[in-house]
Amino acid sequence: MNRTPPTSPLTGLSDGVFPSTSKNFAYHQPQKRNTTSAYSHLVSPVEESTAKFNEAFQISYSDKDSVAVSEAYLKSDLNMLFATPRFYSTENLAKMFHFSKTIPSPEFLNEFLMSMLLAPQMDFLSNPDYTLPSNKPVGQGSYSYVYTISSTISSTSNKDVPFVLKFAKSQHKSKVILQEALTLAYLQYVSPLTSDSHIIPFYGLTYINKSHFRRLRSNERVPGIILPKCEMNLYNFNSTVSSKLSLIGKKEIWRKLLTQMANALKTLKSNGIIHGDIKTANILITTTPTLNEGHSNNFDFYLADFTSAFHINQLPTDLNTTVEYCAPELIDNSSDHVPTFETDLYAMGLCLLSFISQHEPYSELQSLVSHGSSPGVGSSSIQQSQWLMNALLKRDPINLNMLRSDLFQDWKSELALLSKILVERISLENLVTILENDCI
Ligand SMILES: Nc1ncnc2c1ncn2[C@@H]1O[C@H](COP(=O)(O)OP(=O)(O)O)[C@@H](O)[C@H]1O
Ligand SMILES: [Mg+2]
Repeated sequence: MNRTPPTSPLTGLSDGVFPSTSKNFAYHQPQKRNTTSAYSHLVSPVEESTAKFNEAFQISYSDKDSVAVSEAYLKSDLNMLFATPRFYSTENLAKMFHFSKTIPSPEFLNEFLMSMLLAPQMDFLSNPDYTLPSNKPVGQGSYSYVYTISSTISSTSNKDVPFVLKFAKSQHKSKVILQEALTLAYLQYVSPLTSDSHIIPFYGLTYINKSHFRRLRSNERVPGIILPKCEMNLYNFNSTVSSKLSLIGKKEIWRKLLTQMANALKTLKSNGIIHGDIKTANILITTTPTLNEGHSNNFDFYLADFTSAFHINQLPTDLNTTVEYCAPELIDNSSDHVPTFETDLYAMGLCLLSFISQHEPYSELQSLVSHGSSPGVGSSSIQQSQWLMNALLKRDPINLNMLRSDLFQDWKSELALLSKILVERISLENLVTILENDCI
């Protein structure tokens, strides 16, 4: 299991709004392969998906040339993905997209997926204007690098555009990125109002090669996902920005985090997707929140990193969830250790708790006991994981993470709600009702 939250400080400027409404970028936003209106095939209710699919299928041919190169790689990579058991299969996808009654031919499904996945206006292989110039990634994890995208045709002096590319570190890590792209495209298809759902918007997929990223081998082509550029993740916010805010300002931001992430979980649950790795490093913030109390409208939270996500009609893709964020049933002996909607909600509760403590779950306690002479916290990573699992199994996350008594006074009603999530383990539906009735 992965214990280290993959985080890295984010650099760069952003005006806090996602590219679709951003004022200061002078180039075309990446669009799907629909020349008349981007996303029109993505904005259909699921029931109408077959009709809309036909439309997307027709239109997709008109813009074919611009993605021809990436398309060939995508086709072959998707075929490999479908042949690998722990990833999506064509049957899963047909069911997810509600094609089960009509059973589309493999070619039909393939074209449909191509039209959803590829980004004709930002295809790196056919358009040399797009580059990844920065020496330093804005983030990275075990499978991918995240770099800001630059455009040589940008009219402003800053050539960075408000998008990032999250691409596979090597060809054999491509499947995880494609799987993530399929999940994001699916979510966008079934729930097109992504800004309300607070799931990171997906702008399409492109392939890149060594000319874009030196560390690739000369014959390697890897897929990358185009995402709006955010300024930081919640992990960085908690460790660097949070302490500079007033209590009132922080409470307002906490409330926003709660409602926006409840919306994200609602969207996931109603569409059968389990995230599987919710943690502060995977919640992105569009712009650094400012200190003005009562003005928390200049930024938003988005749930990101769907590399561990899976649809309930398949087995989990990757059991690499981060131990600190595991609900007790994921590590005790009584269950099959598979992430569920309930474990996603529990992990979200821990993110909200981290916001209050300004520490990652159990980290403060861990450093406290390891600096003392407590037996049990040894220096080896096995001893540390064992210590961590024992701490989780005490099922007392609030007391084990709120080590300062003033926090209990300052955050009384918020902690009472977190106790419902983390100790009582209320359902998401219950939480939504509480939020709708404004009961905190
Ligand atoms: N759209 C984005 N804008 C800015 N930074 C991002 C974006 N997406 C990811 N990052 C940064 O990169 C890190 C790793 O990305 P993530 O999607 O979590 O990949 P991984 O699956 O490798 O953990 C994130 O924690 C975040 O700091
Ligand atoms: Mg991550």
